[in-house]
Amino acid sequence: AGMYAFEGPHQAGIVTPAQDRMYFASFDVTTRSRERLVALLQDWTRAARELTAGREVGGGTLPYADPPADTGEAIGLPASGLTLTFGVGPSLFTGADGTDRFGLGGRRPAALETLPHFPKDHLDPSRSDGDLCVQACADDPQVAFHAIRNLTRLAFGTAALRWSQLGFGRTSSTSSSQETPRNLFGFKDGTANLKAEESGELDRHLWVAAGDDPRADWLAGGTYLVARRISMRIETWDRTSLREQEGIFGRDRAQGAPLSGGREFDRPDFTATSRDGAPLIATGSHVRLAHPSQNDGHRMLRRGYNYTDGDTSLGRMDAGLFFVAFVRDPARQYIPLQNTLARQDALTEYLQHTGSGLFACPPGVGPDGWIGEGLF
Ligand code: HEM
Repeated sequence: AGMYAFEGPHQAGIVTPAQDRMYFASFDVTTRSRERLVALLQDWTRAARELTAGREVGGGTLPYADPPADTGEAIGLPASGLTLTFGVGPSLFTGADGTDRFGLGGRRPAALETLPHFPKDHLDPSRSDGDLCVQACADDPQVAFHAIRNLTRLAFGTAALRWSQLGFGRTSSTSSSQETPRNLFGFKDGTANLKAEESGELDRHLWVAAGDDPRADWLAGGTYLVARRISMRIETWDRTSLREQEGIFGRDRAQGAPLSGGREFDRPDFTATSRDGAPLIATGSHVRLAHPSQNDGHRMLRRGYNYTDGDTSLGRMDAGLFFVAFVRDPARQYIPLQNTLARQDALTEYLQHTGSGLFACPPGVGPDGWIGEGLF
């Protein structure tokens, strides 16, 4: 199991090759004190340096009479490729009561707004939004859990867990060195994703540049994180023919190749038709609607995970895709596409969006820096 540097121009956990597991957490800040919010971000940064290096939080043991500084369940486990990625939500700038609790209102990026209500959304407020988020990814779920648990513990009295999501398997590749994994519908997911190796494309589609938003120069080198908890009707899917399943995605199930022919990484040909003139990649198929050629050239870096939270009271599996995407501008790269998919995507019939969040992830930190420093 590897170890990823915590420091750098960008936060880790974005173009880092997607790890096997995720534990995502969203927090409400419960204090009105700017100083305590800053102290929390500093404490979290210090702990993140330790955790991502595979060390105990707090540098070891305290007096025997005190609770241990680290909760202990990761003792003896390697770093397991742990990355911790921090973000701030729109409500940090204007709280639920509309007040500017921390004097940050003037620095809110214009694009950092609660995502709009999309057609067919069925959002649970207790699984949505939040003032702060932490995405923990690791190859060992115990290591990811341990990280979120200890950060939550450090936040006691300053921020409280609002919602969290455990993901058990990656549904994307973020490096061309990785095999494409499969989602719970059994299809390869991540084939056409933005990859770490596409450096020019990352600057164009992923990283916020200086000058993108004059109010939010602190976000340069950062990015936006879109989170959507998408419940998948797998029982219905499992009664659908393979022909229909492939038609819905526009790719074949075995290889992930476009239905216009070729192999997994070959370019889909949307003009190709069958003998009767029907497009081989149907007009309402997911890859056609999501393709950059249909979206003003926009791309996104997807980094989602399969999840299950047991079953519903109706005896169906409560399972799906915890969709995470990183974009330079959600207003251009996510919102229009989500509107299109919700209205036209053949896949939508099998989905229900039950949770949502938008966060701005500040740039990475140097040796003395702390996450979010530029904001204060
Ligand atoms: C592509 C599955 C939701 C955006 C794909 C592919 C699959 C897939 C199998 C083709 C392989 C690939 O290139 O990765 C799913 C499933 C979803 C879901 C099962 C829900 C449970 C979404 C959402 C969005 C999205 C909500 C964004 C609003 C994209 C994009 C592509 C893609 C941009 C690449 C299109 C291309 O460039 O060819 N998805 N997806 N997907 N999906 Fe999704």
